[in-house]
Amino acid sequence: MSSVAATDDAAEATEFPIPAGVFAENVTAVKHYTDRLFSFRMTRPQSFRFRSGEFVMIGLPNAAKPVFRAYSIASPAWDEELEFFSIKVPEGPLTEHLQKIKVGDTVLMRKKPTGTLVHDALIPGKRLFLFSTGTGIAPFASVIRDPETYEKFDQVILTQTCRESAELNYGRELVENTRNDELMSEFVGDKLLFHASSTREGEPRGERVTKLIESGKLFTDLGIEPLNPETDRAMICGSMAMLREIEGLLQARGFEEGANNKPGTYVVERAFVD
Ligand code: A2P
Repeated sequence: MSSVAATDDAAEATEFPIPAGVFAENVTAVKHYTDRLFSFRMTRPQSFRFRSGEFVMIGLPNAAKPVFRAYSIASPAWDEELEFFSIKVPEGPLTEHLQKIKVGDTVLMRKKPTGTLVHDALIPGKRLFLFSTGTGIAPFASVIRDPETYEKFDQVILTQTCRESAELNYGRELVENTRNDELMSEFVGDKLLFHASSTREGEPRGERVTKLIESGKLFTDLGIEPLNPETDRAMICGSMAMLREIEGLLQARGFEEGANNKPGTYVVERAFVD
């Protein structure tokens, strides 16, 4: 069995065995966006396959029994590395340590990806709405970088609500890079729309996406038609309260929840970090 050196602030380097049945991967990049949010990239095991929008269990080799948490894979299925977008929780059992990782460190990943924010769980439609708050944008970072998304939909509308404007920077960069990417730009064309709003600080100062749907401002801001279950499909990822509220708004408009074994007109992810 292999092992790696795990350090934490207080303790000397300690050797812990890599648990059986997990991948041990190397961090290749870390980017801090705010004191609450960061992203990292790591090597991808050659045998690891996933569908864009799925999540995996992530941990660190810093204990005999490491803590694992569900993390959406933010990179698309064609990327040779894996990307994740994480919150930093001061006393979070995993993120307290994960937020300190550096290039070259080891991250553990369980072998089986899963999740409902996938094309297979939606019936065909014309427009795809991706509603997110905070790090809930992570699975959509994967979905909007998947050519299949643009083969299946005429328009893709990504929304993100965060507390502060700086927390929207990951999404801003993501959308800009996706539109300009050599490989993706021919699929994306002008199909990808992004609506970002911060609720507590900075510009563009806005409202929660729930309010924007209710008032219709989301649609007038973007110059598009309101939600219509005949033509539209939706994926939702955010806090439990946000999921419930958006589900309520969608159901009131005639949308029905889908799953991998029974596709519908909207899907929700209920896997959380810390
Ligand atoms: P607000 O600032 O009004 O609380 P958090 O960091 O707490 O997960 O919140 C991320 C963003 O999601 C914040 O802008 C927050 O708005 C917003 N938010 C929180 N709860 C809901 C909800 N039930 N519906 C829509 N947006 C929400």
